[in-house]
Amino acid sequence: MTENTFFCLSGKRVSLYPFENTELYSSHYLKWMNDKENVKTIGRNDYLLPVSQEKLKEYVQGLDKNKTAFFGIYFSESGISPKEKMQFVGTFKVYDIDFQSRKASFGIMVGERGLWGKGIASEAIQIVSNYCTSTLNCHKLCAGYLETNVGMAKAFKKNGFEVEGILKDHFYDTEKFHNVVLVGKVNK
Ligand SMILES: CC(C)(COP(=O)(O)OP(=O)(O)OC[C@H]1O[C@@H](n2cnc3c(N)ncnc32)[C@H](O)[C@@H]1OP(=O)(O)O)[C@@H](O)C(=O)NCCC(=O)NCCS
Repeated sequence: MTENTFFCLSGKRVSLYPFENTELYSSHYLKWMNDKENVKTIGRNDYLLPVSQEKLKEYVQGLDKNKTAFFGIYFSESGISPKEKMQFVGTFKVYDIDFQSRKASFGIMVGERGLWGKGIASEAIQIVSNYCTSTLNCHKLCAGYLETNVGMAKAFKKNGFEVEGILKDHFYDTEKFHNVVLVGKVNK
C-alpha cells in the first residue's frame, strides 16, 4: 500500500496524519492497545488483554472507509516539525460520518501515558473539529465517554462540546457498571 505522507492537519504542537501501515505496525500502537490503563476507558471489553497485531490489523482494515477517517496523532513539545521528527502518541477516529445529516463522531486515544495532561487531546479535538466543519461541512460533532473520564470531559468542554445526555449503567468493564456521557457541538 502506498502511504499518504502529504495530507496533514496541524495545530501548534499536534499534527494528525492518516493512520497507515507505519502507525499500524509500530510497536507503540501494539503497546498502547495492550496497556490496561489505556483501554479500560475506551468502552470496548473485547480489547481487554491481550491484543495481537493481527487483531489490530483486522480492526483497522475493517473500518468503513466511506464513513471513517482514522488518524495518527503526532506531537512535538517544541512545535510542529516534519512527521519523522514528531512523536507518534495516539489515534483519532472520526467515525459515523454522515453527509446527509452533516454529523460525525470522535474517538480519541493518547496512548503515551507519560504525555497525559499536556493538552494533546484538547488540541487534537480543536484541529479535527475545524477540519470537520470547514472541509467535511459537518453541522454537528458528537462523542461519548465514561463518566469517570475526567480528561475527556475537560477536553471536550474546552472545545465547546455540551453534555446532551447520560446513558445510565451503559458499560460494564468486568468490575462495575459505568454511566456514559454523550456530548455534542453544533456549528452555529
Ligand atoms: C482521555 C485522554 C484522551 C485525555 O488525553 P490528554 O491529552 O491527557 O488530555 P488533555 O491533556 O487535553 O487534558 C484535558 C484536561 O483534562 C486534564 N486531565 C487529563 N487526564 C486527566 C486525568 N486522568 N485525570 C484528571 N484530569 C485529567 C488535563 O490536565 C487537562 O486539564 P486542564 O484543562 O485543566 O488543563 C487520555 O487520557 C487517553 O487517551 N486515555 C485512554 C483512552 C481514553 O480514555 N480515550 C477516550 C475514550 S472515549
